[in-house]
Amino acid sequence: MQDIHMLLRQHRSIRSFSNEHVTDDDVEDIVISAQCASTSSHIQATTVIRVRDTDSLKQIAEAANNQRQITEAPVFLVWCADMHRIGLACEMAEGDMISGMTEQFISTTVDVALAAQNAVIAAEGMGLGVCYIGAIRNNPQVVTEILELPKHVYPVFGLCIGHPAEDPETKPRLPVKLILKEERYDDHNDRELIADYDETMNNYYQKRTNTKKVSTWSKEMARRYESERRPHMRDFLRNRGFEMR
Ligand SMILES: Cc1cc2nc3c(=O)[nH]c(=O)nc-3n(C[C@H](O)[C@H](O)[C@H](O)COP(=O)(O)O)c2cc1C
Repeated sequence: MQDIHMLLRQHRSIRSFSNEHVTDDDVEDIVISAQCASTSSHIQATTVIRVRDTDSLKQIAEAANNQRQITEAPVFLVWCADMHRIGLACEMAEGDMISGMTEQFISTTVDVALAAQNAVIAAEGMGLGVCYIGAIRNNPQVVTEILELPKHVYPVFGLCIGHPAEDPETKPRLPVKLILKEERYDDHNDRELIADYDETMNNYYQKRTNTKKVSTWSKEMARRYESERRPHMRDFLRNRGFEMR
């Protein structure tokens, strides 16, 4: 077992995988570790669907910006927020589940994220590499149909897992002083700290092994947030039964 701090600080997304096999037992171990994450009121709202079928993987990749790691990774998992199973439990206990509450959307989505990140740590601890795929939400309806998700279940993100065939640099994070505040939200020094970080990121972007570029964190955020991203998500979630009341 590696030192946990070392393991966490060595994380970098892996987008190129070797052909080396990941066993079904490994996948099960990873998912069991995922299940051990804290879960809001023990709702255990995560369902993980492993996709192996080549056609399904191809269609999911097409729906997700043609990211080749989806079809190339030995393991591809779709992490779903699941109120359906809770509905079954309520029914079995002769209760009527009230669905569509915003709080349910938050608690199930948080549950999925915590479980998935446990899976990531477990996988990385086994020497595997991972890449989350939020881009499945570019066309979540396609993914929903392929996976035959019942109502009250929605796909939050995908996760590629496999043996790394690349060794990218770790990506610098914001200065801890920016995100760890004392007692209240004091942002008087934030512009200065972001400017320092922009310089760090520009150096990183220019020197890193994969896709060098000239940019900063601020510029990347501006590019990302000056247009509406995935505006279809509101109606998609409503149709899935996450009405957000
Ligand atoms: C929820 C989520 C969705 C993501 N979606 C994608 C994706 O669709 N494609 C991709 O290549 N990376 C994706 N990533 C990876 C991020 O780009 C990456 O974690 C971030 O740039 C930090 O880099 P690092 O993981 O190498 O430290 C996603 C990460 C998260 C947490």
